[in-house]
Amino acid sequence: MALLLFCLTLSFQFVSIHVYAQKSTGSSFDPLQYVDQLIGSANGGNVFPGATLPYGMAKAVADVDSGSNQGGFTTEGGKVTGFSSMHDSGTGGLPSLGNFALFPYASCVGDEVDGCTYPKQERKIPYVSSSVKATPGYFGLTLASGVKVDMTASYHTSLFRFNFSGANTSGNASSPLILLDLTDLSDSRQDNATIQVNSTTGRMTGGGRFKPSFGSGTYVAYFCADFKGAGIRDNGIFIDARARDNVHDLKIARGINQFPISGGGFVRFNSPGDSPILARVGVSLLSSEQACYSAESEIPSFDIDGTLSTAENAWREKLSPIAVSAAGVDSSFLINFYSGIYRTMVNPQDYTGENPLWVSDEPYFDSFYCLWDSFRSQIPFLTILDPASVTKFIRSLIDTYVHEGWLPDCRMSLCKGYTQGGSNADIVLADAFIKGLADNIDWDVGYAAVVQDAEVEPYDWSNEGRGGLDSWKYLGYIPVKDFDYKGFGPMTRSISRTLEYSYNDFAVSQIAAGLGGKEADTTKYQARSGNWKNLFKADQESLIFGDDTGFVGWFQPRYLNGTFGYQDPLYCSNRDPNPNSICSLQVNAGETFESSIWEYTFFVPHDQATLITTLGGPASFVKRLDYLHDHNITYIGNEPAFLSVFQYHYAGRPALSALRSHFYIPNFFSITDAGLPGNDDSGAMGSFIAFSMMGLFPNPGQNVYLIMPPYFVSVSITSPVTGKTAIIRNINFDPTYKAVFIQSATLNGVPYTKNWIDHSFFTEGKELVLTLGSKESSWGTRVQDLPPSLGTYKGFNWKADWK
Ligand SMILES: *[C@@H]1O[C@H](CO)[C@@H](O)[C@H](O)[C@H]1NC(C)=O
Ligand SMILES: *[C@@H]1O[C@H](CO)[C@@H](O)[C@H](O)[C@H]1NC(C)=O
Ligand SMILES: *[C@@H]1O[C@H](CO)[C@@H](O)[C@H](O)[C@H]1NC(C)=O
Ligand SMILES: *[C@@H]1O[C@H](CO)[C@@H](O)[C@H](O)[C@H]1NC(C)=O
Ligand SMILES: *[C@@H]1O[C@H](CO)[C@@H](O)[C@H](O)[C@H]1NC(C)=O
Ligand SMILES: *[C@@H]1O[C@H](CO)[C@@H](O)[C@H](O)[C@H]1NC(C)=O
Ligand SMILES: *[C@@H]1O[C@H](CO)[C@@H](O)[C@H](O)[C@H]1NC(C)=O
Repeated sequence: MALLLFCLTLSFQFVSIHVYAQKSTGSSFDPLQYVDQLIGSANGGNVFPGATLPYGMAKAVADVDSGSNQGGFTTEGGKVTGFSSMHDSGTGGLPSLGNFALFPYASCVGDEVDGCTYPKQERKIPYVSSSVKATPGYFGLTLASGVKVDMTASYHTSLFRFNFSGANTSGNASSPLILLDLTDLSDSRQDNATIQVNSTTGRMTGGGRFKPSFGSGTYVAYFCADFKGAGIRDNGIFIDARARDNVHDLKIARGINQFPISGGGFVRFNSPGDSPILARVGVSLLSSEQACYSAESEIPSFDIDGTLSTAENAWREKLSPIAVSAAGVDSSFLINFYSGIYRTMVNPQDYTGENPLWVSDEPYFDSFYCLWDSFRSQIPFLTILDPASVTKFIRSLIDTYVHEGWLPDCRMSLCKGYTQGGSNADIVLADAFIKGLADNIDWDVGYAAVVQDAEVEPYDWSNEGRGGLDSWKYLGYIPVKDFDYKGFGPMTRSISRTLEYSYNDFAVSQIAAGLGGKEADTTKYQARSGNWKNLFKADQESLIFGDDTGFVGWFQPRYLNGTFGYQDPLYCSNRDPNPNSICSLQVNAGETFESSIWEYTFFVPHDQATLITTLGGPASFVKRLDYLHDHNITYIGNEPAFLSVFQYHYAGRPALSALRSHFYIPNFFSITDAGLPGNDDSGAMGSFIAFSMMGLFPNPGQNVYLIMPPYFVSVSITSPVTGKTAIIRNINFDPTYKAVFIQSATLNGVPYTKNWIDHSFFTEGKELVLTLGSKESSWGTRVQDLPPSLGTYKGFNWKADWK
């Protein structure tokens, strides 16, 4: 998903490189040294740059008031509103979570509790830019007040350290006060949030009801905060600008204004001298008792170094299966690579044991935010690097179908998220199925779930499933201005929905074929996966500012009666001259979601052969793909662009995919704060970088990885399942990336001319050796070398096609 407020995302251009380039030796390899969590912390990357475990529920960071604080903190400046413990990463929509923020004062003015400032909008202060430090499991900065705050996290608990030694108390005795605010990042708190402050211990417990950031309904979250490091002077609650130490219980309304009424608790301490004060905040979605239990069991002794070292080891273990030999390569590439990989494991979040919605022994993962983004490469990437976790994702998705009735297309904070196009969990399931994930996954139930997406229209298809299924079944496309009385959702995006539903049906057919005994279903869904053809208008032209792009034949909206309507193929592209074009989930949006017909025209991942023929043959297809990229029509900062970088493989020009990958990396994906071209979307952008640099890109939902030279001398990936190591090695590696053309290849020592491999490469630990040169060769260009496609490749004559 791209940020809904498009114009905001592109307005900041901060360039600061955190880890300066040095040559890597490749020996004594610790991947953590190459992780920079601040990549994507400006320019709308929206990443969560704070302290977390892989898939952890506790995510601690400083929250700022910047316009793109979806992930809590940004390096765009802005003022710190507090330090909270739950976040999402890289998402569009509204700022997510940000619950139960703490805020510190070294002393209150006049030594009165009312001399401290409580409401978020008034208390927020800048931070010292140069003080920001983020490493796996760690985040820290110094506030303009001189209070230094750093933090780490376990699965359900954040541990904050407040150092008041450097704070300016204007000569007054230090008597620090730490408040806990019941307001979340997007001010979504509903009525009846509560806090209790234990007057003896200072422990704060409570919870509140909040709204998800891109979905329906509400969720309830709880906390348990304990403090250590100085004697407690007094404590109590605050409401709006006033605090009292003789009231210890609060139940607060939302209020009628835009912002919920400010309220929460505080603890004031005796002077800690030069010792820091530690705050441990457990979070839970079940109860504050559970939050206290997690906090006490996970971080019993407030040990910041021990908790951090546990987090570092967890990250090291997750990142270590993938190693690169990087002789001659600038370390900025290693940083880009490992930081991208790191971001693929921040979301989704493992809420197993924390799900209040149903009772089940299955794992429960949340923050699939959104599958529309992550089906393309994030989850496929984890299928290689962390298949045990993907197995749990799949079980959780299937269990969500069992208990909530539908697979999600997006899910966050225990709520249903909005669907953006198709029912893309179908692709996620198919991808895992064909790559052999099996451990305790009930594929029969999984199959029932995807068939339901394909057959049954939900009442509310803005949150699940697909709309327009009668038209889909009987007309073979989603009409513009459909007649749909069976279910309800935004009646827009008829072209992108048609294309996504086509591919979703292909995914269903893949599972049907693999399960066996479902020949009729396989045939039926394969046939329906060809519905994309019904929106192709062969004589449609595309003009740019009156100039003919020269390409004829585009998808177009089509009415119920079969007549074509019209949408400019450039509508909602980068080149759309109309700043008012509306392309998201608005009721008056266009027929393509967050992108143009130009881009969606290539989205037929299962039948590139027929698409190539439809678009005039391979030479013409390549010209059109070049035009898409060279004329800045595509927006690489949003996920529909991903596959289009590599689709040259299908036209017998794998060399052009490699070139195109270097066109975008690092120019559009660099290691600066502003280094991402769009929202990271829970690591979707990170996985695009990781796969591209690794030299293999998936066609998700199919057992296909397209081969390109890795950005390193070699890459090795050890399968956590089989323990076998797959290796991709470049011969004649050129660190200036001029010689990126594969001349020949061997797989396990045998000459290999196909321009793709399948997943057994990883599970069986094969070795792919690529010999590179500085000119495009005939390697991987013949029809028999091309990746599988439903239709038949026609009109290929690679030598002629090049000229
Ligand atoms: C220090 O104490 C004086 C006297 O009470 C007060 O006016 C001043 O605001 C205090 N400064 C701070 C930073 O608390
Ligand atoms: C607290 O900050 C001071 C300087 O502001 C520093 O000397 C001291 O080491 C810090 N303490 C801790 C525990 O980090
Ligand atoms: C401390 O704060 C006071 C009042 O806010 C300010 O006048 C003074 O310059 C500050 N001192 C330092 C060393 O920052
Ligand atoms: C708040 O509490 C009142 C009274 O118990 C109840 O009627 C209302 O539904 C609650 N609201 C929320 C948002 O929990
Ligand atoms: C406060 O905490 C103490 C120590 O755990 C406990 O004995 C006491 O009952 C608590 N007070 C309240 C009001 O819960
Ligand atoms: C089909 O429907 C559209 C939209 O209502 C209309 O503009 C068009 O004239 C119709 N075509 C025919 C052949 O009736
Ligand atoms: C591409 O289009 C975007 C959006 O209109 C614009 O911000 C950017 O500058 C363009 N890039 C180039 C290279 O023209």
